Amino acid sequence: MKRLVLAVLAVGMMLTGVVHSAEALNHPGGTGGLSSLRGATNLEETRPADPMKRYPRDQGTINSDYVYQPPLIPHTIRNYEVSLNANKCLACHSWKNANDMGATKISVTHYQSPRQGQVLSDVSPSRYFCLQCHVPQADAKPLVDNDFQRVDALRE
Ligand code: HEC
Ligand code: HEC
Repeated sequence: MKRLVLAVLAVGMMLTGVVHSAEALNHPGGTGGLSSLRGATNLEETRPADPMKRYPRDQGTINSDYVYQPPLIPHTIRNYEVSLNANKCLACHSWKNANDMGATKISVTHYQSPRQGQVLSDVSPSRYFCLQCHVPQADAKPLVDNDFQRVDALRE
């Protein structure tokens, strides 16, 4: 009896598999039945690009919501290259240049090795790609609802 049930199940699974793949052949692309936060787009179509975000000028830095938050970038970063060969951010924010450029120095944590916390003589490789952690402040609507509350110690 058990064997019979198993055999029936196996055949059933095979049949549904065949039906599914036949359907996929008739309708390649499509949305794959998925709808993301950007809405549904058929794979075979190129959707128009989203409008560029606005980075308001002369805005102060938005206050932190929790301790040890990477501060947001209060200025535009268009065309600021950060690559193997160049790091535009450090042209203003490194300890060497910050005073002359009137920019905030990167903090001492950016010179520490991530594992042992040793202080290095130059920016730690783990802090080289600034935009992994820092993002520009944009006039953007949150993608998803969020009821996160600023920690008590930072509340005004
Ligand atoms: C031309 C110089 C310049 C360059 C290049 C530059 N910044 Fe800045 N940045 C500043 C100045 C000046 C400030 C101080 C606030 C202001 O006046 O906008 C600042 C502020 C910041 C702050 C806020 C610091 C704080 O005190 O909270 C962050 C974070 C930051 N920049 C990150 C970056 C990153 C990341 C890059 C590279 C993608 C970058 N900056 C490139 C000049 C620069
Ligand atoms: C791994 C994440 C990470 C990376 C990568 C990183 N930062 Fe930061 N940054 C932080 C955090 C977290 C803070 C706040 C705490 C602190 O000072 O360490 C901070 C603070 C800062 C500050 C404010 C310092 C102050 O005294 O208020 C500046 C300016 C800054 N970062 C610039 C940069 C620049 C420029 C780069 C790239 C060379 C960079 N950061 C790369 C996480 C990061």
